[in-house]
Amino acid sequence: MTTATNRVKIFDTTLRDGEQSPGATMTHDEKLEIAELLDQMGVDIIEAGFPIASEGDFRAVSEIAQRSQNATICGLARANFKDIDRCAEAVRNAAKPRIHTFIGTSPLHRAIPNLTQDEMAERIHDTVTHARNLVEDVQWSPMDATRTEWDYLCRVIEIAIKAGATTINIPDTVGYTAPRESADLISRLIETIPGADEITFATHCHNDLGMATANSLAAVEGGARQIECTINGLGERAGNTALEEVVMALKVRNDIMPFTTGIDTTKIMNISRRVASASGFNVQYNKAIVGKNAFAHESGIHQDGMLKNAETFEIMRPADVGLSGTSLPLGKHSGRAALRAKLKDLGYDVADNELMDIFVRFKELADRKKEVYDEDIVALVQAGAPASEHLKVKFLRVICGTEAPQSADLTMTVDGEDKQVTAQGDGPVDATFNAVKALFPHGARLQLYQVHAVTEGTDAQATVTVRLEEDGLVVTGQSADTDTVVASAKAYVGALNRLIVRRQKSGKDTKEVSYKDTV
Ligand code: KIV
Ligand code: ZN
Repeated sequence: MTTATNRVKIFDTTLRDGEQSPGATMTHDEKLEIAELLDQMGVDIIEAGFPIASEGDFRAVSEIAQRSQNATICGLARANFKDIDRCAEAVRNAAKPRIHTFIGTSPLHRAIPNLTQDEMAERIHDTVTHARNLVEDVQWSPMDATRTEWDYLCRVIEIAIKAGATTINIPDTVGYTAPRESADLISRLIETIPGADEITFATHCHNDLGMATANSLAAVEGGARQIECTINGLGERAGNTALEEVVMALKVRNDIMPFTTGIDTTKIMNISRRVASASGFNVQYNKAIVGKNAFAHESGIHQDGMLKNAETFEIMRPADVGLSGTSLPLGKHSGRAALRAKLKDLGYDVADNELMDIFVRFKELADRKKEVYDEDIVALVQAGAPASEHLKVKFLRVICGTEAPQSADLTMTVDGEDKQVTAQGDGPVDATFNAVKALFPHGARLQLYQVHAVTEGTDAQATVTVRLEEDGLVVTGQSADTDTVVASAKAYVGALNRLIVRRQKSGKDTKEVSYKDTV
């Protein structure tokens, strides 16, 4: 019986559901690196992508399948043979392959392919049977399960189990359920459906009402033994259940939730930062576990208590999630070994070539800034090296102040050739963006321009995030610099570089394949 064990499997869908959030697109190499980190941290199942969606997704799933050492590698497929065949092909080389196939079962979702209840039931039978003929490990999801009629949900789950599904996932697709309902739903399904005790029930919660983590944990109490989640809670709209939250909650409150996972929690901080930099989605400062302030204590009473006994205001140790408590500043005389040690303290395990790149940027920063704080180093790593170098900012000087017009004198390398322009705008950033657009004309629309001061003080670095949209393609660029306008220019150019790569990718893109297109 599934509930007899208290081991909960962690199914990470950062590379599928997480990557689906507009603007979070990751490069192929970033996906491989994140999959490797997930595998090393002990994730049981990695949902590596949606193979039919694009050549890029297919390639990422296939390569991750080939490389994975421990985890089961899963691909997503809609309820049709073509999707399922493509998915089977992508996961074929995994030591432990899984096909995850789904269809929307709620009245709203059934209306889209215009199937009757009987027609949909037949489709579920046929597609799960087909998947099971291709692999041993088949997961089936009734999308929008929490808004599906109870009788129909039981009926289709029973059909899927009989057709060979080994995991039944119960998605709360629109983040609609609440903890008590989430627990009751799973326990009632297990009690009611014949054969339910032979398979694993999973929970997949979105965070539209901010209850995703609570709903996932409640589902485990109701009998689910697989939690679907993403790093940093990345995902469409308000995101998904955050891996770090469920795993740490089960660890810290094991007294009242006696369930275990196979996750090495000391790897949490590193992977959180890698996902933030690859996706371009900054982690909010007050985010549980991985936010910048999660272990910061500012008020006098709290600091005093912390000095006397850390347990007064901390329910877990920073080291439990891979953060060191020490904070030795680096300066312009610090060498590579000190930088590597600092990065390790901060939770980053970087490869040699990446260290070299960070070191060069660290030296540039240390020349301009007296003290290089931990946050500066995190910003350097997160801003990352440019994804590709079609465009590069070579020289920028702006004139700004009370007297309009503000102007930007920009030299930019465009595919190896230096080009220069002077442009005006409403403020220095606007003038700079106009200059970039004059040298590289494009139709992308600015969706987001965001500036964060990394530390305090007037010489603080600014991290700038720019999100652009062009014909449905959404890309993000990020850069950090003590000069906000320079950081803005580099972030804008970084986003354009990603856009160029995305344009070059032939065929369709993940976001173009719709869940609605299920038949
Ligand atoms: O949220 C959802 O319903 C999904 C399914 C594909 C499982 O992501
Ligand atoms: Zn989802």
